[in-house]
Amino acid sequence: MSQLIVSGMRPTGKLHLGHYLGVIQNWVELQHKYESYFFVADWHALTTKYDKTENLKDDVLNVVMDWLASGIDPEISTIYVQSHIPEIAELNVYLGMVTPQNWVERDPTLKDMAKILRTKEGQNSQISYGLMGYPVLMSADIMMMNADAVPVGIDQVAHIEITRDIARRFNNIYNTEFFKEPQPILNHCSLICGLDGNKMGKSFHNDIKISDTSEETAKKVMTAITDRSRMRKTDLGHPDECEVAFKYWQVFGTEEQIAQVRKECEKGERGCADCKRQLGAVMNEKLAQIRERRAYYESHIDEVKDILIEGDKKARKKAQEVITEVRTLIGMY
Ligand code: TRP
Repeated sequence: MSQLIVSGMRPTGKLHLGHYLGVIQNWVELQHKYESYFFVADWHALTTKYDKTENLKDDVLNVVMDWLASGIDPEISTIYVQSHIPEIAELNVYLGMVTPQNWVERDPTLKDMAKILRTKEGQNSQISYGLMGYPVLMSADIMMMNADAVPVGIDQVAHIEITRDIARRFNNIYNTEFFKEPQPILNHCSLICGLDGNKMGKSFHNDIKISDTSEETAKKVMTAITDRSRMRKTDLGHPDECEVAFKYWQVFGTEEQIAQVRKECEKGERGCADCKRQLGAVMNEKLAQIRERRAYYESHIDEVKDILIEGDKKARKKAQEVITEVRTLIGMY
C-alpha cells in the first residue's frame, strides 16, 4: 500500500505565486505518489487571529479554490477543513497530556511567531494558551491521519520534530507502536521573491496572486525592481544584479528565452520596460490554465463546497479509525 502524506495551510486569503511555486506545485506532484490529505488549518488561524474572524469562511474557500485551480485533484487527493474534523480536537487533548511543557516552550517557530506578534501589537500583546499549543495541535493534525510523511517548507521542520517526539512518547507511555514517526518532505521548488525584492507576502503588498487577472499581473510586473545601476536602455545591463525581473524570467522563461534576455540586456539592446512587458506576457501565458480553472470554481462555488463535503467525509472516516484506537490504547473506553 502506498504511503500517506498530510499537509495543511492556514487560511490567509487568496494565495500568491510564492505559495504556488514554493508549496502547492510540490503537492501536485506528490499526490500521484502518495495517498494524500490536504487541509485548511482554520483552527491554527485562530491562534493569532481569534479576534479577526470576519473573513475566515471566505478565506477557507479561497484557499481551496487556489489549490483546485493549481492542480490538486479531488479525485485522488482528500481536501478537507481542519475544524470539520472534531476528532482532531480530541486527539489534541490527549497529546497535550503527554507533551512536556518545555517541549512547546523551546519551539523556535513559536518563538518567531511570538516575536512577530509583539512587533505588530506591541509589548503588551498576549500569547494565548491556544498559541502555545500550536505545535501540539499540528501534531494532532498529522497523527490524526497517522501519516508517514509531511511535505513542508524548511520553516516548519521544527514542528515535525516535535511531532516525532510526541508520537514516540505516546508510544512509550501506552506501550504501543501504533503511531508512526512522520518524516518531513522538504519542498524543493523554486522560491520567488516579491516585486520589491523582499520575500513575497500578502502583508508586504509585493505579491502577485494566483487569482489576479492577466491585466493585474502585467501591471504589477511593470513595477518589479530591475538592475538599479541602469538608467537608459543603451546602458549595458547586469542580469545577475537585476533584483526581480530577471529572477522571474528564470522561473517562467524557457532556456532560450532566458539566454536571449541575458544577451540583449548585457549588450544594452533591451530596455527594462520592454523586458518587463514581455515578461508579463510570458507569465500570463504560463498561468492561463490555472486562472481559467480558478474562474470556473469561483462561478461554481457549490462544486467547491461539495468537494469539501466529500473530503471531510473521507478524512473523518480515517480520523475515526485512529481515535478509536487511541481511546482504547489510553483506556478511555
Ligand atoms: N503550520 C503550518 C504553516 O503555517 C500549517 C499547518 C498546520 C500544517 N497543521 C499542519 C502543515 C500539519 C503541515 C501539517 O504553514
